[in-house]
Amino acid sequence: MSGEVRRAWAGRVCTPADPLRVAICISGTGSNMLALLDSFGSTTPARCVLVLSDREGAPGLARAAARGVPTLFLDPAAYPNRAAYQEALAQALVASGAELVCLAGFMRLVKAPVLEAFPDRILNIHPALLPAFPGLHAQKQALDYGVKVAGCTVHFVTAGMDEGPIVLQAVVPVRDDDSEETLSARILQEEHRIYPGAVALFAAGRLWLEGRRVLVRWEE
Ligand code: GRF
Repeated sequence: MSGEVRRAWAGRVCTPADPLRVAICISGTGSNMLALLDSFGSTTPARCVLVLSDREGAPGLARAAARGVPTLFLDPAAYPNRAAYQEALAQALVASGAELVCLAGFMRLVKAPVLEAFPDRILNIHPALLPAFPGLHAQKQALDYGVKVAGCTVHFVTAGMDEGPIVLQAVVPVRDDDSEETLSARILQEEHRIYPGAVALFAAGRLWLEGRRVLVRWEE
């Protein structure tokens, strides 16, 4: 272990009066998004400035709108290619005033324009104990492999898929009679716990990066 140790978020102290501004990117149900929204203003000094979806019919969009959160459907079909879409994504997120971007079931890699606009300021939740089972259908991958414990990971987002520095992980048992659905549901419960937890640590300035290690400083 060597190298520079830097604070992931040293922007300012976030308080209820001056909360961390968060944008959330989704493609689907948005249950992690709701868990984050529930924590904002109660356990975490944060405020959601935008919920962005790349899918028009994502149920999470309506759920966010019902909570009075600004929403945006950014249509991939409206752009000539993936690079142009990534530029538009970066612009929309910057325009929202977000200081942190949370990917929550966003079924799309984020590329250079977004990564460069939010260095060390993009988090993702993945339903496996990374580095095991990256990519799609992580819970099925775990079940098929025969592991005895599964879980979820909150990590910083880098250019590689599901590869960034790990912030928090939670473990759940795999039972003999588990299906993909039952295992996914057990993992999802933990996702809803650790994702808000990771954002709270970020907002409190308690996350430090040393290479690809994330150090959680519980005390000042
Ligand atoms: C979660 O399992 C998350 O880990 C994965 O996509 C799923 C999104 O679920 N990246 P939801 O939309 O938050 O309910």
